Order: sequence, then C-alpha cells, then structure tokens
Amino acid sequence: MTNKIIAAGKPLQGKALIPGDKSVSHRMLIFAFLAEGKSEIRGLSRGDDVRRTAAAIQNLGATIEPLSDDGAAGGDDVLITGGISGAKEPVYPLDMGNSGTGLRLMAGVVSRFDFLSILIGDESIHRRPMARIVEPLSQMGASLDGRAGGTLAPLVIRGGNLTGIDYAPKMPSAQVKSSILLAGMGAKGVTVVREHTATRRHTEEMCQILGLPIETEVAGHSLKVSLRACNVPPFKLNVPKDPSQAAFAAVASSIVKGSEVEIENVYLGPGRDGFLKVLLEMGADITVAKRGENTADLLVKSAKLRGTVVSGQLLADSIDEVPILAVAAAYASGQTKFLDASELRAKESDRLAAVEEGLSRLGVNVKTEADTLVIEGNGGVPANLLKGERIPCRSFHDHRIAMALSVAAIAACNEADSVKALSEIEIDDFDAVDTSWPGFLEAFTALEKN
Ligand code: S3P
Repeated sequence: MTNKIIAAGKPLQGKALIPGDKSVSHRMLIFAFLAEGKSEIRGLSRGDDVRRTAAAIQNLGATIEPLSDDGAAGGDDVLITGGISGAKEPVYPLDMGNSGTGLRLMAGVVSRFDFLSILIGDESIHRRPMARIVEPLSQMGASLDGRAGGTLAPLVIRGGNLTGIDYAPKMPSAQVKSSILLAGMGAKGVTVVREHTATRRHTEEMCQILGLPIETEVAGHSLKVSLRACNVPPFKLNVPKDPSQAAFAAVASSIVKGSEVEIENVYLGPGRDGFLKVLLEMGADITVAKRGENTADLLVKSAKLRGTVVSGQLLADSIDEVPILAVAAAYASGQTKFLDASELRAKESDRLAAVEEGLSRLGVNVKTEADTLVIEGNGGVPANLLKGERIPCRSFHDHRIAMALSVAAIAACNEADSVKALSEIEIDDFDAVDTSWPGFLEAFTALEKN
C-alpha cells in the first residue's frame, strides 16, 4: 500500500518498452495447459494478473519452467508442460488476485472437470459481477455457486459432462465469450456465442492459429462464434506488445510537447485498436507501420489534440483505454464525450467515478452520468497542476487509474518555462500498477533520459 509522488517530467524520446499483451498472455497460458505436451511462450506479461493465471494452471497440474530471461524485450519466456488428461483437483482455492479476465476464463476451464474448484481473488474481484458467467456455464451443465446467490466470488465449481449452448451475452464482454468458448472446447455438440457488439477476439484467434474447429461470422458490429469440442495441440508462440499499455505511451508522447516515441510490435487486431482511432480522430500525429496481420509499429509525435465523441463499437474497442484517453481529453481543446460506457463501472474500480474524482482534483472540468463521461479540455495543463502544490489522488487500487493520473502529472512539464513551481501529485496504493505493468514508471523515466 505505497503512496507515490509523481512530478512533472520531460519530453519523451526513443523506444518505449511495452510489456507483452495481458489478454493474449492469459490465453496462451490456458491453451498451453489444455495442450498435451510442451508449449513455448515468449514475451509473457510479467504483471501480477498473468502470474495468477500461471499459478492457477500449475495448481491444476501444468508445470512451468523459465526458458530464458529476455529482460530487454520486457517479458517472460516459458516452457509449459500441459495436458488436460493430467488435470488434477486443486488442493487450495485458485487465487486470481485482481484479475477479472483470469477468474472468468478459468471458470470456463474448470467447468470442464468433474472435480471441485474454488475461485477467489482480491477485494475488487469479490465485488465484480459474476452472474454473467455463472448463468451460461450452469446452462452448459456445470454446477456453480457463489456469494449473493451465485452472483459474486468466491465461486465454487464442480463441472464435467458439458453440453454446448447457443448464447447471447447481455453485455459486450470478451471475458464472458471466452469463458463459454473455453468450456465449449470440452462440451458435447456445438457451442455458439452471439455478440451484438463484437469484443476482442483473442480466444478465437488462438483457436484459428492452432487449427481448432471454430467459425466466426461478422455482420456489421455483431459477431457469431461457433465451436466444437477439440484437443489443443502444443505450440510455440510469441506474445505481441499490449495496446492498452502502448496507449499510455502514445497519449504521453502526444500531450508532452517535444516528444517523439517509437512503440514496436503492438497488437492492433479487432477489438483492440480503438484507442488509436480515437487519438487519430483527436488530431494525434501517429504513423502506423503494419508489421504482421494484427501487429504494427507506431511512431508518435506530440500534437495539438481536440475533443471528440467515443461511443458504441469504438467505446467497446477502447474499453480499457478510457482512463488514459480521458487524460488526452483533459489536455485537448474542447469537449470529449465517452458514451455507452456503463461497463466501466464494473471494472477493477468504478472507472467513471475514479476518473471523475482524479481529474477534478487536477482542476479539470469533468462530469459523469450513468453511462457517460464528459471532459472539457482547456488545450493545456489542467489548472491545479500549475499551482505548485502536492495534490492527493486516489488510485482506487486500480492500475489503469494510477497510470493515467501519472501521465497527467508528467505532462505538466509543458508549462515548466512559464510557471515558477509545478504541482506534483501523490497517488495512493500505487503498487496497483504491478497487476499489469511492473516497471511502468521506469519505462517513462527511460524515455525522459534520451
Ligand atoms: C479482457 C476483456 C475486457 C477487458 C479486460 C480484458 C479479456 O473485458 O476490459 O481488461 O482479456 O478478455 P470485457 O469482458 O468487459 O470485454
């Protein structure tokens, strides 16, 4: 529970060291557990969330050995010996920490086994809605229970003998879709998930890469995924860099005058490129050089940003980046509106309320309603960052809130020449950033030194 003081920074130059993608890391670990034999994964996220999934598959019988330490590339390389045939009942609860993705995906995985699994996490996880996975997994034939009538973790699951379902989740959620698909890989018949607003497709992409029997149909914004029972073959794969973390570097480089930063090999597949579209719409100077089918290198130069509207599919495609895009909006000229954003209230914290509080403390004119966040940017540094004060800010123990507020404080350096003393901010529970990006501040300091 450490507080961290963040002061104004300097222009950012050079290559940003971005961690491996968190969503992909969770899934590669799970697929390696399901595969009979040895799989190699390179560039895994070192965040606590992903480490919890690694520990969970070990508790279910997989072994994980380090391959090498590619410290420079910012990720772990591991050799995993998996095999669903050797899965064993976990002796202790699987503790998924702060990770909604970890808990919801593992719920789908353990629903395949006729042994008892108990899934727990931290205080935030125990507040987050679980009926969204309990309902479909129960319909598939698993027995699930939890607090508050089976709607909150801890979840207690005894699975096995599953049958495929045809299911349309009420809210757009890749975690729900993936949980059902992971269960469906061990269910009789066909499992179908219908999304009215398509979400990230990492689970589907893993199935496609590994040649598993999955079909996807896109119609407008909607997506239908069908899958049959299948065995997962072992694999060797690299994790691309995390667009949600790249967004912090991209926004910082856009709003800190005199910056020019390269971000290599970022995943920009369906459902994850929203932040880039929003920043380009705001007038950001970002050159995108395609690298692989779903990856690209970005070159970001500082630019004058203007307000925009983010809603519907674009909001879903930038769901995790709203806190840092809100900081971009605070530094932009004019109004930015995030609409259809109610799911942000069900993340690691109520992110609409957390952004409203944090940015207000910095002197930004910001308002939230049920599913809306409106920010009036003044085209420069927020007023309270120019007062030479120490501003206390709450992270709500949410990694993305702590990192977004840090970037807002760093960018106050734009007025270093005109203001005698700039403010610094003191963020509580700063260690929350370790859930997704241990070394976040160091990565920024390294860019300031170039
Ligand atoms: C994730 C899905 C998203 C996102 C989360 C990661 C995933 O949540 O917010 O950080 O890896 O499937 P939803 O389930 O709300 O789409």
